[in-house]
Formats: sequence, structure tokens, C-alpha cells
Amino acid sequence: MNQMTPREIVRELDKYIIGQDKAKKSVAIALRNRYRRSLLPEEIREEISPKNILMMGPTGVGKTEIARRIAKLVDAPFVKVEATKFTEVGYVGRDVDSMIRDLAEASIRITKRQKLQEKYTIAEAIAEDKILDAFVPPKKKSSGGNGGVKSPFDFFGAFQQNNQNQQTEPNRIGTEDSTAGNSDSDLTREQVRQQLQAGLLEDQLIEIEVNDNSANMNMLDLGGGMDMSISLGSIFGDAVPQKKKKKKVYVKEARKILKEQEAQNLIDMDQVTSEAMENAEQNGIVFIDEIDKIASGSGYRSGADVSREGVQRDILPIVEGCVVNTKYGPLKTDHILFIGAGAFHVSKPTDLIPELQGRFPIRVELENLTKEVFVQILTQTENALIKQHKLLLETEGVNVDFTDDAVDEIAQTAFLMNEQSENIGARRLHTVMENLLEDLSFNISEMGSGEVTIDADYVRKQLADYNKVNEVEKYIL
Ligand SMILES: Nc1ncnc2c1ncn2[C@@H]1O[C@H](COP(=O)(O)OP(=O)(O)OP(=O)(O)O)[C@@H](O)[C@H]1O
Ligand SMILES: [Mg+2]
Repeated sequence: MNQMTPREIVRELDKYIIGQDKAKKSVAIALRNRYRRSLLPEEIREEISPKNILMMGPTGVGKTEIARRIAKLVDAPFVKVEATKFTEVGYVGRDVDSMIRDLAEASIRITKRQKLQEKYTIAEAIAEDKILDAFVPPKKKSSGGNGGVKSPFDFFGAFQQNNQNQQTEPNRIGTEDSTAGNSDSDLTREQVRQQLQAGLLEDQLIEIEVNDNSANMNMLDLGGGMDMSISLGSIFGDAVPQKKKKKKVYVKEARKILKEQEAQNLIDMDQVTSEAMENAEQNGIVFIDEIDKIASGSGYRSGADVSREGVQRDILPIVEGCVVNTKYGPLKTDHILFIGAGAFHVSKPTDLIPELQGRFPIRVELENLTKEVFVQILTQTENALIKQHKLLLETEGVNVDFTDDAVDEIAQTAFLMNEQSENIGARRLHTVMENLLEDLSFNISEMGSGEVTIDADYVRKQLADYNKVNEVEKYIL
């Protein structure tokens, strides 16, 4: 599992998010605590519940970004949900339990991916055999003899191959006669195998049998947005044979398709499910974004507020620890880590119902971004805005350079704009950059090649209107 130390986690987050050290630290500690807990004996482990985190801070300062980045960082099952999407149980819409069901899905995906990874080498070998079959169909009687049976799955494979024999006839290589003696076709098989391995047949069309997922899939989602969909496959298990369909593909594609398919056949879904559910219970992380939007303002209450309170009440048991039924079985939420985040611009954490407040004991505030931070966001993160714009513009064959004082000017403008009109945090940089580069973006395609240097003067000129407080309204988002 994730064994990064808190310091390493913070360092990783630093690549994308500037500042906000307190928030990064809390998140890193919480993640590391999951690992520490996993080292303890079972009895004690049961007693230690995670300390949920509430991140507060103005809009556009990196709350969601932190969540997005840790999701990529940790191998733990992770879901990010918007609190505003939920409605109280009994109303039309998503109920809060669905976040746990999503977590189960996410966990299954992770575990399945791991298990598939382990099976790919075997699956590749089987896939190769199947491709060979498409070229040189094995003889019915000889099917037991060729290749040597390695595992029970091979029996299954052989069984399928037999079924396949009659239909794959047109695709076998014309030169040889498959009714000839066993040794003959074995010989051809080996020749073809060599050609196959040498990559000489990659562009040949063959017909293979693939699982027909489309029919099953449609059934799964019949529930629409109601979240009530139950996988038919999971009810009947493997009793319902996989639907197959024929498909003509190139050998190189066939390799990929068959490898995937064979790996699927090799993994034990029961095992995947039980491991995934365990992983979700022990290491799951649920990030509830926009949690402030379900806080009902004090005093006056409208209808909407009442139902928001309902959502809060519904969330309580989940955060506290309960059992939610998912299509993979019941999932205990006791040890799942919840991270709530919200701007708390209009409402305050104290507007949440007290029971919910109490369940998020760790509070971290994210700071407002300063001009210096803006400069760093523009230039230093892995996905820095200036880098992005530069790369985009340079696809037109023109070199684009930003001088340091230009960057400074951009940051300064963004900062002032946030002060003078709405404070939208780092998102302001996006609008400023768009305004700055509008003319250049428009004209650059006709410039041919050359150099463009964007200096402070250019920035001031381009953003002249933008700087005028009178005209601020024009640009307010
Ligand atoms: N500290 C930061 N360092 C680097 N980029 C940042 C920082 N803060 C915000 N950004 C960038 O600003 C944009 C908005 O940030 P984010 O989505 O995290 O806002 P938020 O805090 O969730 O706001 P809201 O309350 O409106 O949801 C993202 O593109 C993000 O990359
Ligand atoms: Mg956000």
C-alpha cells in the first residue's frame, strides 16, 4: 500500500499546489495514519478510527486540487463527491449512500486492475495460442495434445477452441491442409508461431471470438440515475455463460483484446470482490466537496434549507460508521477517512448541524493567495499556466517567451483584481492569462515563424482595460 512518509506526500503535493502547508500536512498525516494503523494488531486496529478533516478556505485556493492530487498519489480507493448532488432519502436524486457504493466500485476497479496485471503474462501466452488457432485450427482429437495442459483453464480454453473450429475455417492459411496427419499440422503450427513471434503477421486479418459486453452492460445501467441498478451478472454469477461474438481484427489488436479477455477469465472475481471490499473498508477515502453548500444559514429557513439539513442528517451515520449495502455486499464505513471541504463563504462551519461538525475534528484553513504565490503558480508547478500557454502557442511555430517582470505584472494584476472585485483565487489567473493572450492567440497562426517576447509593457498594454476598476464589471465572472 501507500507507504510514503508525510514529508514525501507533502513534497509530491508541492509539485502542483503552492503554499497551503497546513492543509497538505493534515492530509499527509491522515494518510500516513492509515498505514500506521494497518501495522497494529487486529484488536487495537478495530478501535482506532480515522480523524476526519474539514478543509475551509475561500474559493479557488486549492481545496479540490489537493483532493485531486492525493487521489492520484495514493493507491487507496478514493472517491470525490459533491455534497450538493445529494438529496435526502426519499426524494428524487442521489442518496448519500451512493458515495459508499461509488467507493466500492472504485475499490473493485483498483483490485481488479492489480489482479489483471498479475495475469497478463499467462494471458499473453494463451492469447498467442488463440491467434494461432485462428491461422491453423487445431484438430479436434489432437487438441488435448498440443501445447501441454498447464492449468484447469487450459481445459476451458481447449473446449472453446473446439467450438471455434468450424467457424474459423476461412481464416486458416491456405497453403496447408489441416486434414493431413497430426504431425503435419503441428509442424505448420510451429512455423506460424515463429512467424507470429517474429512479428511478421501483425497486419493479418483474423477472426476471433470476443466477449460481447454490450448486451450485459445495458442491463446493468437500466436503473438510470437512480443508483438502484443491480448487475445481472452478479446475481446469476457465472451461471450465465458469457455472450460471445465474432470479430475480424488485425493480429496486433487481437493480441490486446485476447490478452485482456483471457486475463479476465483467469482472475477470480470472488477473490477480487472480497479483497476490494476489505480494502475499501480499511483504506477508503471519501472526499466530500462543497460541504458548506449543505449548511443551512442560521435564522431564516426556506424549503431548500430543510432538505439540506436532511442531507446532513443522512451523512451522519455514514461518517460515524454504519453498514451500507452495495452490489458487492455490505460495506462498513467505520474506518473510511472522510475529508470535507468547502469555501464557507456564506455559511460557517458552525452552520452545519452540531453532530456533523463534531465528526470532522480536524479543521484546516487554507490561506488566501498572495501575489508571490501567484507568481509561483504561473511558473513553478508541473502544470504551470505559463508553461501550458507557451506550449500551446508554440505549436504554431513561433517561440514565445515571458520575461520575469511580465510574470510579475500578471500576478500583480490578478491579485489586484481579486482585491477590487470578487476574490476567485487562482482561477483569476486563468481569466487574466486569457485576456492577455487573446490578441496573440488570434494572430499567431499567420505569423509564420519567429520570436515573441511578452514583457511587462506588453502585459500592461493588453491588460489596460482590465486594470480599470470602472470596467471591472465587464470581466466579472
Ligand atoms: N495553491 C495553489 N497552487 C497551485 N494552483 C492552485 C492553487 N490554488 C488553486 N490553484 C488552481 O486554481 C484552480 C482552482 O482551484 P481548486 O479547484 O482547488 O479551488 P477550490 O479551493 O476547490 O475552490 P472552490 O471552493 O470554488 O471549489 C485549479 O486549477 C488549481 O490548479
Ligand atoms: Mg472546489
